Amino acid sequence: MASGAVKTAILPVGGLGSRFLPATKAMPKEMLTVVDKPLVQYAIDEARAAGIENFIFVTGRGKTAIEDHFDHSFELEHTLAERGKNHYVEMMRSMMPEPGQIAYVRQQDPLGLGHAIWCARHMLKDEAFAVLLPDIIIDPVDGGDGCLKQLVDAHDQYGGMVLAVEEVPPERVSSYGIIDPGEVRGSHLEIRAMVEKPRIEDAPSNLCITGRYVLCTEIFDFLDKGVRGAGNEIQLTDAIAANLQKLPIHGVRFSGRRFDCGSKEGFVAANLHFALKHPEIGDKVLKSATEIMARQ
Ligand code: UTP
Repeated sequence: MASGAVKTAILPVGGLGSRFLPATKAMPKEMLTVVDKPLVQYAIDEARAAGIENFIFVTGRGKTAIEDHFDHSFELEHTLAERGKNHYVEMMRSMMPEPGQIAYVRQQDPLGLGHAIWCARHMLKDEAFAVLLPDIIIDPVDGGDGCLKQLVDAHDQYGGMVLAVEEVPPERVSSYGIIDPGEVRGSHLEIRAMVEKPRIEDAPSNLCITGRYVLCTEIFDFLDKGVRGAGNEIQLTDAIAANLQKLPIHGVRFSGRRFDCGSKEGFVAANLHFALKHPEIGDKVLKSATEIMARQ
């Protein structure tokens, strides 16, 4: 089992984004914008704040805008500089990882999250690695650590695998991977079992796994078999669950506000949240939102 510093993150972006059609017909879901940044940028910023140095994107057809986003745009930079708008050039440069820190691998068929992570197997060393789902944004509590940093700290303490978990209303458990919690230590808890998208009467709790993971390469023993799970997809939850008796697996009830930007309501809520706290537009958005609400 690998433990120690977590330096590599996988960002799976190979999904179809069907819930956002037609917006995602010609544009990757992960490039949808929350106020002024695409979803992938929030994930990269959170990963960098957690000490991640290597980023592996699992992409698919029609996703090249993501690669372009993390590259220079020479014509744009040149034109902005000529017009004296160097602050924009600097802002764009500062958000780019260093040369060589990003790699891309293709998932030719979107067969599920477990399959997406498996596609990156040859690019990993035998070390723990992080996974961030870019369509989940987790805004840290003011001044606090990001969600992935909280997971990496828990991994330093226990080794093994660490998953972000959060309470969901009981009627929503059938949409998520749900855990059976064991011993609880503050915001950390042991995970005894987990099940992907259980029926409400079969769910062991209402704590769901959500969007951030520290994983070990042992998951590939299961993923190598290509076993289909819930929804006929190759499920990451099943690959983690196959290691429950072999490795320590913990959950962190993270502090931070989570938005599921893979759903329309979560995406709109994220835009409202970040717009209201945006220093340039917050007041104006509050005024507009108040007027709109008054008219309902
Ligand atoms: P989702 O299941 O939310 O994304 O996966 P999706 O399949 O694109 O969305 P819908 O359900 O069709 O609307 C969460 C993340 O995992 C990636 C997605 O791109 C998204 O960032 N993913 C999912 C893959 O990379 N490959 C897959 O096979 C499935």
